[in-house]
Amino acid sequence: MSVSGEKAQGKKYKIAWLPGDGIGKEVMEAARIVLDKLKFNAEYIHGDIGWEFWCKEGESFPQRTIDLLKSVDASMFGAITSKPVKAAEAELVPELKGKGLVYRSPIVRMRQLFDLWTCLRPCKAYPGNPINYKEGIDLVVFRENTEDLYAGVEFSPVPQEVKDVLLKNAKGFAAFKDVPLDQYAITCKINTRKGSERIIRAAFEYAKKHGYPKVTIIHKANVVRATEGLFLDIGKEVAKDFPGIQMDDANIDAICMWLLKNPKNYSVLVATNMFGDIVSDLCAQMVGGLGFGCSGNIGDKLAVFEPTHGSAPKYAGQYKTNPIATILAAKMMLDWLGEKEMGARVENAVATVIKEGKVRTYDMGGSNTTLEMAEAIAAKL
Ligand code: NAI
Ligand code: MG
Repeated sequence: MSVSGEKAQGKKYKIAWLPGDGIGKEVMEAARIVLDKLKFNAEYIHGDIGWEFWCKEGESFPQRTIDLLKSVDASMFGAITSKPVKAAEAELVPELKGKGLVYRSPIVRMRQLFDLWTCLRPCKAYPGNPINYKEGIDLVVFRENTEDLYAGVEFSPVPQEVKDVLLKNAKGFAAFKDVPLDQYAITCKINTRKGSERIIRAAFEYAKKHGYPKVTIIHKANVVRATEGLFLDIGKEVAKDFPGIQMDDANIDAICMWLLKNPKNYSVLVATNMFGDIVSDLCAQMVGGLGFGCSGNIGDKLAVFEPTHGSAPKYAGQYKTNPIATILAAKMMLDWLGEKEMGARVENAVATVIKEGKVRTYDMGGSNTTLEMAEAIAAKL
């Protein structure tokens, strides 16, 4: 399925509902208030995920949740707590003692297991939001979601065979020839032609479908020649298939500066995994920060929609944080399922509540709760 799908008439959707940890539970409760008021025809099936389950059963993404995701039309995910726990530390958790476990992020696993290759992050400055950086910003980030430095191909310590191969084949490696094996670490940046082409093509198709004038290819091709050079070359090739869309390119460092200076000069941005991760946080901050950053992890068969923020442990249990990011993620899910009319109603309701300025969570300078914000949005549907 493409980034925005076609509506299935009168269908009752099966939606995997994964609240996760901390405020994930609270913002998902808020999103349900909006979806229920909308009378979105769905069966929501709860899925266990996150830190809580790693502590209980040594698995943050249990097989039953993986099976659930295989059986649904789409999924909504709140947030999880993720800690880089090594085997030695797991020994200190009574339930995990003796199991030799290492914590793995369920999100990264989910993206790879289900080949959710598009990370789509729209960043729009809704008029009247007191924490907009500037009015009129409308940026859409396409981030490759499965490859690059996040492929998980790492060495620490470095095996002698790897060092030998690099010394023999990679010119730049000579500088590290005298470093002892346990004194350095290697993370491989892997980018494929297929992975690069499909994300760049998706960005152009989105621009064409939604009337955006330009796609900017973000890269660092001048220094990271093999991988980032490949990405830029493919960008130039794909652009030829979209004569109606302007294409330009920029280095990752320069674009961070230009986006802050002239955000309205840009519309759709596309990047490899890590640069896309960085630039999408920058874009989210320009339109109000984590309370507004929504995200879709989209593959050919499954899509998982989420706020970009984490479980914010310091606010957990207080119903204080902003549910708009999650409500906008629900809007993205509706669009992807082809329920465009419902998606538009959600977005209009969010925009109206922001513009009126009567209900605001703490990040917007107000004191309303997570659920009061959701109720205010539901009332405008
Ligand atoms: P975080 O995103 O959970 O929160 C950082 C700060 O941002 C919060 O303390 C709060 O001030 C603000 N914030 C976050 N969400 C907000 C909202 N909806 N409304 C208003 N303000 C909001 O990031 P942090 O504290 O670095 O990480 C906490 C945990 O979440 C960690 O275990 C981390 O690994 C995990 N995490 C999980 C993610 C996911 O589930 N996709 C993404 C990012 C972090
Ligand atoms: Mg991030």
